[in-house]
Amino acid sequence: MNTEMIKCKTLKAKPTEVKSFGKLFTDYMYVREYDGGKWGKGKICPYDGFVLLPCSSVLHYGQAVFEGLKAYRDKESGTVRLFRARDNFKRMRSSCERLCIPPIDEEEAFSALVDLISVERDWIPTDAGTSLYIRPYVFANDESLGVHAAKNYKFAVILSPSGAYYAHGFAPVALKVEREYVRASKGGTGAYKVVGNYAASILAGEEAKSAGYDQVLWLDGTERKYVEEVGSMNIFFVIDGTVVTPELNGSILPGITRDSCIKLLKSMDIPVQERRISIDEVMDGAKSGALTEIFGTGTAAVISPVDRLGDVNGDYIIGKKGEAGKVSKLLFDTLTGIQTGRLEDPFGWVTIVK
Ligand code: COI
Repeated sequence: MNTEMIKCKTLKAKPTEVKSFGKLFTDYMYVREYDGGKWGKGKICPYDGFVLLPCSSVLHYGQAVFEGLKAYRDKESGTVRLFRARDNFKRMRSSCERLCIPPIDEEEAFSALVDLISVERDWIPTDAGTSLYIRPYVFANDESLGVHAAKNYKFAVILSPSGAYYAHGFAPVALKVEREYVRASKGGTGAYKVVGNYAASILAGEEAKSAGYDQVLWLDGTERKYVEEVGSMNIFFVIDGTVVTPELNGSILPGITRDSCIKLLKSMDIPVQERRISIDEVMDGAKSGALTEIFGTGTAAVISPVDRLGDVNGDYIIGKKGEAGKVSKLLFDTLTGIQTGRLEDPFGWVTIVK
């Protein structure tokens, strides 16, 4: 192991069963600080609080980015697999650049993560549907109230043994088409994993929940006409047998699960298109029956079937109520198969952690 480590005095008891998402945390985390114009040497240290002064710049101006990825452990062999971790650190670099945060070398971040995972491998749950959710993040920590690019940052990685993101697992969710608020617009930060995108989405999400939906389906910020994403997931539609997902247009997050699904569909010769898709086309498809399936994709959610879509004129049931569609099931089985080692990985997405 290359990373310096500060040992815990005592270790926590590991859970025998993991059901929640993002509520349990392991004994160790990784921390690296930026000061004096450079990133210092990172260390693995006990999971504990940061000292943040009341004037810390992140608390005022939100100069912060994050990532989400997963590790899996095989029950029988104990083999630990990391899924597309380098791609997450690549995206983190682009998010950092967008927020004027000094980027972190992808290979250095990757090798620190491998060290942290190998220390915490016994925390990785092995039951079906569980994984170790990994949350890397970077935030500004200047003692200053001026609005400018900070000079001090922290990069941390925390680990959370987790079950499914939605409490009901692979069961379908309901989406409300969001007509009032927008998540992002061209030239903004929608294509980056920055904390402000999520803060800005909470009100719409809460209102959708009060109205009986799980999440909102965001439309573009300019014309309010084209479908973008869900916020915690990218979105796919099956229309007349073709799988369609909004093309990356500068305000949609380039999801790694989104990319994996497109590659999987292509490898299976299932027609897939990345293109602009209007909400009218979606609603017309829902009315005519040409739209047979909707599903979301994301690291936390994996594949999340959608069986109800609500808009100003009422709700449409997509496919069979309470059931995942054929394409959603196929993608879920194949993707989780590759992630957990049940299936071959022809794409080279998986890293085995020794
Ligand atoms: C992920 O899917 O890992 C995300 O970062 C989305 C988050 C809102 C849970």
